[in-house]
Amino acid sequence: MKKIVINGGNRLNGSVCISGAKNAAVAIIPAIILSDGVCRVENIPDIMDVNLMLDILEKMGAKVNRINRSTVEIDPGNISSSYANYDEIRAMRASCYLLGALLGKFSEAESALPGGCNFGVRPIDQHLKGFGVLGAENSVANGMIKLKSNGLQGGHVYLDVVSVGATINIMLAAVKTPGRTVIENAAKEPHVVDLANFLNSMGADIRGAGTDVIKINGVSHLSGTNYTIIPDQIEAGTYMAAAAATNGDVTITNVITKHLESITAKLREMGITVEEYEDCIRVHNKGRLHKCNVKTMPHPGFPTDMQPQIAVLLSVADGTSMITEAVWDNRFRYVDELKRMGANISVSGKMAVIEGVDNLKGAPVKATDLRAGAAMIVAGLAAQGTTCIEDIRHIERGYENVVGKFSSLGADIKIVQTDEPTSAN
Ligand code: EPZ
Repeated sequence: MKKIVINGGNRLNGSVCISGAKNAAVAIIPAIILSDGVCRVENIPDIMDVNLMLDILEKMGAKVNRINRSTVEIDPGNISSSYANYDEIRAMRASCYLLGALLGKFSEAESALPGGCNFGVRPIDQHLKGFGVLGAENSVANGMIKLKSNGLQGGHVYLDVVSVGATINIMLAAVKTPGRTVIENAAKEPHVVDLANFLNSMGADIRGAGTDVIKINGVSHLSGTNYTIIPDQIEAGTYMAAAAATNGDVTITNVITKHLESITAKLREMGITVEEYEDCIRVHNKGRLHKCNVKTMPHPGFPTDMQPQIAVLLSVADGTSMITEAVWDNRFRYVDELKRMGANISVSGKMAVIEGVDNLKGAPVKATDLRAGAAMIVAGLAAQGTTCIEDIRHIERGYENVVGKFSSLGADIKIVQTDEPTSAN
């Protein structure tokens, strides 16, 4: 089994370059199924979820040509089946986007039920509601979802909850569907906007992405395109948190500072200096962090995917802080791991109360999911002593070259191979 081993206490210094956005890449790659030409996509992150998605498209018949680590050319011309049943689909949440893309291309689709990080129930009722508005009937059996229709027609969808996945999936199903589709109460995350921009670069007619009302006029043809994916907002936020946690001084390059505004505001509230430039951001601080309260919200609120990382900072801030997780039912599974390192946190439902301690102590911990794993790295960097993180496959799903990037900032961090078996979960 592989572990990440960190000897904490080094102040991070220097600069780190952010990779392409995972949650944009895992939406844009399946969107290529809808293209009538070859698509070249740049700035894709070299991470497990992206590589799994590329494997799925290849198994469906697409020609996938990796030009280099961050550039791929995909010709979807040979994709002729609306049926997708591969092991990779059960490994991640984003594979549900295959449903929207296949439905948009073939007016029907059948795919395995998706997997993904375990924060409690992760329903897809809003996705299915949107597909129903377009005219697709759904049925679920034997771990597969089947969508059937006699041809799709644009319609008006009002999402009951702000859902990134449902917004993206309905966009994929509607982009070539005759007529006008309106998605109300839509998600406004940067990766939703990036997908809309990608589709529009192919000739789609999508307006309002980034607002809560997205209007789509179906088109009959989507040409190939050359597109560059936006930088990863959450990867950038993770390095911001790590710089602050180690009282370091780090410049994070290849960012869109507007996407980081809620994270920047919260770090400043904690007494951290954040300097914003054209396409980079500098984070540094001296002395103890101040307590504050955090409530996660859909964009432009504080991102839920930064919740575990900010909890690490609040664990060593002065005073009592509170985190309210307003997006997911159970996104505090990492707290037990953080408590092994000396954090003083009590969780009740969607709220965590954090009493700041002077410092964390290194310990053996697990990565319970992708962002929790990233938070364990931040904690290990700040802690006194050695931290060993198990189940790092979760981290490798979403962070490109995470050990190399942190090492370049002066962290004492490495991956070690042990002959212990990988834990079950
Ligand atoms: C996306 O997940 C991200 N994943 C998640 O990031 C992120 O935490 C989440 O959006 C919120 O920003 C990808 O983009 C691949 P949702 P998604 O649909 O689309 C409820 C990471 O770390 N809901 O916006 O699955 C749902 O239960 C990952 O990169 C329904 O009730 O999230 C949740 O409470 C982890 N019915 C809320 O909406 C539905 O049909 C938001 O979920 C769909 C969602």
